[in-house]
Amino acid sequence: MAVYSSVLEMIGNTPLLDVSRLSPNPNVRILAKMEGQNPGGSVKDRIARQMILEAEVDGRLGPGATLLEPSSGNTGIALAMICQERGYSLKIMMPESVSIERRQMLEVFGAELILTPGPEGSNGAVKRAVALAAEHPEWVFLYQYGNEANPRAHYMTTGPEVLADCPEITHFVAGLGTSGTLLGVGRYLKEQKPDVKVLAVEPPSGELVEGLRSLEDGYIPPVFDKWGGHDLLDGKSIVRPLESLKWTRKLVSIGCFAGISSGAALAGAAKVATRIEEGTIVFVVCDYGWKYLSTGAYTDDLSAAADQIEKIVYF
Ligand SMILES: Cc1ncc(COP(=O)(O)O)c(C=O)c1O
Repeated sequence: MAVYSSVLEMIGNTPLLDVSRLSPNPNVRILAKMEGQNPGGSVKDRIARQMILEAEVDGRLGPGATLLEPSSGNTGIALAMICQERGYSLKIMMPESVSIERRQMLEVFGAELILTPGPEGSNGAVKRAVALAAEHPEWVFLYQYGNEANPRAHYMTTGPEVLADCPEITHFVAGLGTSGTLLGVGRYLKEQKPDVKVLAVEPPSGELVEGLRSLEDGYIPPVFDKWGGHDLLDGKSIVRPLESLKWTRKLVSIGCFAGISSGAALAGAAKVATRIEEGTIVFVVCDYGWKYLSTGAYTDDLSAAADQIEKIVYF
């Protein structure tokens, strides 16, 4: 074990877990990229680090700076952790409907919360942040939806890790929020191994599946266009709340305490597995279940829990 001088150095190099016993096709292996292992507890540590380091290098961020960011959870938590370490202040715009543990985590790391109406979901938080950034040009707005450091973090770290640990990969499947994970990992994999298929998991338009974004809902993240999302993605799997929960619980049944978007991603991976003859699918476990315990997602009656997750924004 190495000794690290800061939590920033502990981000990344997460393991792959073989969950093939949940695969509906015995000829298709399914591996989970375990991003809950990051020090802030999610895949978003990678992009928070990259966005902050790039802003420090180009001079936008300096001592005593205040940052603002719309996030219903993981990006906010990751930024808050790094802002503590670097001595910056942070304001987070988030829907009032996010799970209580997410708010608590942000408070632990000293972020100020600005709540936006629950029914507007993450789009409402984005709108509020854009307005506040215009009013306060002295605040630094990293904006994960438009910042190319987001896909770049995945291009530089997550993608190379996946290919190094699983050279036999045939399909990469991940939930789509900002689209940074899919674009960064997808671009890297396709450059190195052009036959790899890259697939997004989305909720049906109009449904809040644990906060994943449907591109049909009217907001296309600017990074999606900047990184050629339409050309890069080979397809998408539509996953509903009940399926997400069922697959999250299947992960738990083999000892993998994954968050709910991970169940959605695995549900998408399982659909892919039934459509192909053989192969190796890597999907992303964005975070673990700790922040969702209060929602009943793991313990309540399944259909009651599924109704509940439609009301709560999970990331
Ligand atoms: C739990 C969870 N799942 C999925 C995603 C989607 O990742 P990306 O924003 O890279 O598309 C996020 C992003 O916030 C997340 O927090």
